[in-house]
Amino acid sequence: MIETKIEKAINKQINQELTAAYSYMAMAAYFAEISLDGFATWMLRQREEETQHANRLYQYLLDRDGKVELPPIASPKTEFQGVQDVFEIALKLEENNTASINHVYQVAAQYKDYATLSALQWFLDEQVEEEKSMRDMLDIVKFAGTDKGAILTLNQQIAQGNVPGVQGGGLNTNGGN
Ligand SMILES: [Fe+2]
Ligand SMILES: [Fe+2]
Repeated sequence: MIETKIEKAINKQINQELTAAYSYMAMAAYFAEISLDGFATWMLRQREEETQHANRLYQYLLDRDGKVELPPIASPKTEFQGVQDVFEIALKLEENNTASINHVYQVAAQYKDYATLSALQWFLDEQVEEEKSMRDMLDIVKFAGTDKGAILTLNQQIAQGNVPGVQGGGLNTNGGN
């Protein structure tokens, strides 16, 4: 049986992961609307990853005989000022997600729940990667600035997986999750 406060924190984290998935879906739709399909596919893959994170926590909670609560998922922001704006918001989202995972970790540590701490280790490592890949994307997008030709080239390179430090765009790639 899992401590109620830890159960609550994990449930909140499931919601957080699904909220992130929803946000990335909105970002993918924005990119698709302006015909930046490489960026759109990349964002859809982020959505898949967040969904997998939620699934992982869901399964862990069930394995520990916890109760899965599924409160409403907040509606994401759907209006953006441009490509850079999207990645600035996405990076903040990942930073908030890291803080949120850290919080769950703190609660588990408080109760000396070593199994939960062990399960969360994967998430801590994952967040380092997630923040890095979002920061890399923001950096290259900033570099392109308002140059539409550069953005179009980037869009194509992302689709082909040719951007340094950034994984390619296909939804079928094995993300290791
Ligand atoms: Fe996540
Ligand atoms: Fe993420």
